[in-house]
Amino acid sequence: MISRNTSQQPTYHIYGSTGLLGSALSEICSGTKRNYKGYSFSGKDSYQVDISNRKSIAQCPPPREGDYIINLAAIAQPMKVLANIDHARAINVNGNHNLAKYAEKYGCKYFFMSSVEVFGREIEGLKETTETSPINEYGRQKEEAEIHLLESNDKNIIIGRTSWNISMNGIGRCLIDVMIDSLEKPDSKMAEDNLFTIASSYETAGNIIKALESNFTGIVHIASPTPISRYKIAKIIMKLSRSKMLSCKKCKFNDLSFKEPRSRLNVLDSSLSILTFNASYSDPTKIIIDRLINLNIV
Ligand SMILES: NC(=O)c1ccc[n+]([C@@H]2O[C@H](COP(=O)([O-])OP(=O)(O)OC[C@H]3O[C@@H](n4cnc5c(N)ncnc54)[C@H](OP(=O)(O)O)[C@@H]3O)[C@@H](O)[C@H]2O)c1
Repeated sequence: MISRNTSQQPTYHIYGSTGLLGSALSEICSGTKRNYKGYSFSGKDSYQVDISNRKSIAQCPPPREGDYIINLAAIAQPMKVLANIDHARAINVNGNHNLAKYAEKYGCKYFFMSSVEVFGREIEGLKETTETSPINEYGRQKEEAEIHLLESNDKNIIIGRTSWNISMNGIGRCLIDVMIDSLEKPDSKMAEDNLFTIASSYETAGNIIKALESNFTGIVHIASPTPISRYKIAKIIMKLSRSKMLSCKKCKFNDLSFKEPRSRLNVLDSSLSILTFNASYSDPTKIIIDRLINLNIV
């Protein structure tokens, strides 16, 4: 469904509505009878827009004062960003700038989804106040987008930061699917000291709604609080999957090589989200099992 509008309640304008998080947010809005409109580059089941182009945004159905503009549109994979840095920058940095200005013009609260990748140093429990220190291009673009918002006069803004989201509807590049692909290869290695926080796409969508409907503005971390290692996720998948073709070797993060630097620790402290707008999170093991059940492989 492209949109739903039945009352004078605020409308959620979801940019990136065909993606992993945008599709989850659209579903939650639809299921909870909130008004929403979806926008994406392809225009599939949504209004077509290129957020890197201000004229294209201006052709979208105009929001009303008090509506929410949610920016989940991005080149969201670090490897795709690296493959075409300028193209990604036009969307991840300039696109954010354009949408934030648009939200300000119409008196709408603006939500921008940033990433744990704005951090690069080895700190466990990254807080909203922890200094950013990106070590790859995707992280640098997210940091630049954040800085622009923090320096703007408009304070009606939320910057969410999240880490790997597990897709609960099968849309987008889901960590579990990526890991199953790796585990099917004979020489797969999983680092026991590569720790991160994960999230369920539906829970992240619900927490975005809670944040927007609260008085909160500023930076907030959105991820299930308990960290989990990549090796432990692999073990859960291998133990529960019916497939006997999955295997991996335990390794250290330093044994792995990447085209661009990656952080060993991607652990967000999301306690502020729980304290300020009652964000709710499942345990990471439950999130993984729910996805495996979705995939019908347990
Ligand atoms: N998923 C995660 O685990 C995760 C983790 C940390 C941060 N984030 C951040 O969360 C946000 C959403 O991520 P995601 O995983 O849902 O992304 P995704 O699945 O890759 O979806 C990206 C969305 O952006 C749209 N888009 C791309 N270029 C556009 C353009 N020029 N104009 C308008 N729309 C455009 C796409 O539309 P089309 O489909 O039509 O091309 C799609 O709807 C991103 O900012 C990402 O960096 C995600």
